[in-house]
Amino acid sequence: MKKFSDDFLWGGATAANQFEGGWKEGGKGVSVSDVALFKDPKSMSDLLDVHGLCEITDEDIEKALNSDDEVYHPKRHGIDFYHHYKEDIALLAGMGFKVYRMSIAWSRIFPRGDEKKPNEEGLKFYDDVFDECLKYGMQPLVTMSHYEPPLAFVTEYNGWYNRKAIDFFTNYVDVITKRYKDKVKLWLTFNEIDSIIRHPFMTGGLIESRFKTEEFEEVCYQAMHHQFVASALAVKITHDNIPDAKVGCMLTKITYYPYTCKPEDVLEQQQRMRSIYCFSDTQVHGEYPAYLLSMYKNKGFNIKMTDEDLRIMKAYPVDFISFSYYSSSCVAKEMEGKDVTTGNTVTAIKNPYIPSSDWGWQIDPIGLRISLVDLYDRYRKPLFIVENGLGAKDTVEEDGSINDDYRIDYLRQHIIEMYNAVYEDGVELMGYTTWAPIDLISNSTNQMSKRYGFIYVDVDDYGNGTYKRSKKKSYDWYKEVIATGAANILND
Ligand code: BG6
Repeated sequence: MKKFSDDFLWGGATAANQFEGGWKEGGKGVSVSDVALFKDPKSMSDLLDVHGLCEITDEDIEKALNSDDEVYHPKRHGIDFYHHYKEDIALLAGMGFKVYRMSIAWSRIFPRGDEKKPNEEGLKFYDDVFDECLKYGMQPLVTMSHYEPPLAFVTEYNGWYNRKAIDFFTNYVDVITKRYKDKVKLWLTFNEIDSIIRHPFMTGGLIESRFKTEEFEEVCYQAMHHQFVASALAVKITHDNIPDAKVGCMLTKITYYPYTCKPEDVLEQQQRMRSIYCFSDTQVHGEYPAYLLSMYKNKGFNIKMTDEDLRIMKAYPVDFISFSYYSSSCVAKEMEGKDVTTGNTVTAIKNPYIPSSDWGWQIDPIGLRISLVDLYDRYRKPLFIVENGLGAKDTVEEDGSINDDYRIDYLRQHIIEMYNAVYEDGVELMGYTTWAPIDLISNSTNQMSKRYGFIYVDVDDYGNGTYKRSKKKSYDWYKEVIATGAANILND
C-alpha cells in the first residue's frame, strides 16, 4: 500500500503579519505590514499590477501612522489570532498536525528593531503559543522574519540597506533562540528571501521612492547581501543556543517553463530560474554563485562586502531548504503579444495546457514534482514544502457548510505528485505544510476573500464579520490524509 512514512511532518503554515492582529497590544511596535494598504483589486488588470499593489511611499506611511483605520490596513486586525490562539491551535491540532509553521513578529519582541532589551510581554505571548502547540504534540516550525520588519527600523535606518540591520537582527535571533530553546527545534531565517526584488518594502524594509530609480536594483542587492550575512549568523547563533536545532532557508519556488522550444526561449527560462536560484545557491553553498557576481559586474553594481562577511556566509550554510510552491508559468524572449497572467507576485505568460485559479495563478501539480526534483538534484539536502495551497472564494451555504471540493482537488493532486517525487524520484522531503490551514489576509492583495483555509473565518475584505471559526469540508479530508499518511488518496 502506498503511503508516506510515519515520521513525515504534516501540517500547515501561517505568518504573524497576516493573521495575528493585536497590532498595538502587548507592547508591539508598528511593522511594515501594519501600514500595508488594501487597494481593493477588482479585475485581472488590477491584479497584474503586482508592483503597484505592494508599493508604498513615505507619505502613505505618514498617513497610515496618523490613522487607526483597520479597513484599509487589514493586516492590523488579521483574524485576531492574538486573542483566539487557544481556539485556533486546538482546531489545527484537531486535524492531527505534527508540525505547525508560524512566524514571530519581530516588532512584538523589539518594537523598533534597534533596542538592546526585548519586550517581555511579546516573548511571553509566544511562550504561551508554543506551550499550547506542544500540549497537543504539534511541534512549531518558526520563521524568524516573515514580512514584518519593525517600521522604525525602516523609516529611520532604511531597513536592510543599512549594515546595522545585521546587528539588530542577530540580537533578535539570539534572544528568541535562547528563550525558546526547549520549545522550538525547527527554524527558518527569512521567508521567501528572494522576494526582496519583487516587494522590497515588505521583505527588505526599503522605501523605493527614497532612492534614485536607476540605483534601486543595486540597493536591493546590497540589502540582500546584509540579509545573507544575517541569515548565516542566524544559523550559527541558533546552533550555538540549540545544538539539536535545524535551520533552513526559504525560497519562493517560482517555476518557469520556456513558452516554446526555441533556444532563445529556453535561455530566457534558464536565466529567469537563475534569478530565483541565486538566493538559495548562496545560502546553501555559502558563497555567491559566479553568475550572480558576473551580473553585478556587468551592471556596474558595487555591492559592499567584507572578507569577514564572505567567511561567515561560507561557514554557516543552512541545514535544509524550504520553499513555497503554488503555480508555474511560462516565459519567452519576446513577451509582447502573449496572453499574460499572474503568479505569486509575478506576471508571466499563460500556459495553454493548465487551468488557473480565480486570481490567475496557474494550477500545476506536476510542476511541484519538477520543482522538488530540480531542487534536490541541485542541492542534495533535505527539502521541506512549507507553503502550498489554493486561494479561492468560498461560499457559506444556508446550513453553514462550506463545500470546498476545489481546494481538496488542488491539494490531492499536489500530494500525489509530492509522493511521486519522494518515492519514484528519490527526493528527501522532511514535510509538507499547507498555506494556510486557517483563512487569513492575503499577502499580495491584502484581501480576506482570497481564502486558503480548512477553517473558515467570518470576516470580509472590509473587516466586517463575527470572526467566528468554522470547519470547511476540507478539514476532515486533510485530517484523514494525515491519519493515513495519504494512503486514502494514493491508493484510489
Ligand atoms: C507566500 C507568502 O508567498 O505566498 C505568504 O510567504 C503568502 O505570506 C502566500 O500569503 C500566498 O500569497 P497571497 O498573496 O495569496 O497571500
